[in-house]
Amino acid sequence: MSYIDSIFSLEGKTVAVIGGTGELCGTMAEGLSKARAEVVIVGRNEDKAKSRIANIEDSGGKAYFLEADVTKKDSIESLLTEIIKQSGKCDVLVNGAGINSATPFLEVPEEEFDKIFETNSKAVFVTCQVFGKYFLKNNISASIINVGSMSGIIPLSRVFTYSMTKAAVHNISKNLAREWAKQGVRVNTLVPGFFPAEQNRKVLTEDRVASIMGHTPMQRFGDSEELIGATLFFASEKASSFVTGAEIVVDGGYASMTI
Ligand SMILES: NC(=O)c1ccc[n+]([C@@H]2O[C@H](COP(=O)([O-])OP(=O)(O)OC[C@H]3O[C@@H](n4cnc5c(N)ncnc54)[C@H](O)[C@@H]3O)[C@@H](O)[C@H]2O)c1
Repeated sequence: MSYIDSIFSLEGKTVAVIGGTGELCGTMAEGLSKARAEVVIVGRNEDKAKSRIANIEDSGGKAYFLEADVTKKDSIESLLTEIIKQSGKCDVLVNGAGINSATPFLEVPEEEFDKIFETNSKAVFVTCQVFGKYFLKNNISASIINVGSMSGIIPLSRVFTYSMTKAAVHNISKNLAREWAKQGVRVNTLVPGFFPAEQNRKVLTEDRVASIMGHTPMQRFGDSEELIGATLFFASEKASSFVTGAEIVVDGGYASMTI
């Protein structure tokens, strides 16, 4: 085994990638598979998982799709039951489902707030509860990777609900990291900057893009492939064995920009 493999290989690990039907987590799922994890792509639409699964199988990896709606606790419980049935266990959870909206603050309807909150925050809370209970009960050295957002650290104009719900993700990651540190369950947050994807297409208007570029030292959007390194680091028991409650920002320098 090469030195790199001894640190980063996910051979024998089963990783559930919630939101793997989307742009960022779908790419992360392919990266996890290249590090030899068995990948469970979780989402609401199987069609969106098909090309990812085909790519993974074409490169000799193993992946399958499971349908789940993260806003429903019984759906998350059934998801875990099905993963255990099909894979025998689960070692890594990526919490990446997310939705967004750019409704002006004074006009945000309560139903819209509830939907974004249920998908982005409550679902992370519930998923950590369901999977966390399983990891602890079975003494699994697990890694939970919650997908936060730059807007959860530096509040972002126009996406009020989204920013607030992502701040909650950062908070619960650290809280659970402390809670479960001695039991071997690590909880970290991956913090993407700006990556064009389905959920933010409508938000990325021309003036918005100009403003983002003016605030991004690298002067470009991220490519979803650029999230793979940090994902593998958090997923690997060896590479990040002493890392919990951490945030890795992948943002082209956005968070470091002052003037
Ligand atoms: N794209 C960016 O610039 C960016 C920046 C920071 C954080 N993020 C976060 O990264 C994650 C991935 O986002 P993306 O940009 O790839 O968007 P995306 O829209 O391509 O992917 C999001 C996925 O979540 C799934 N999803 C939504 N609601 C769900 C539900 N109730 N149950 C199950 N699945 C559900 C969607 O079907 C979709 O496949 C999200 O949490 C997002 O908030 C994205």
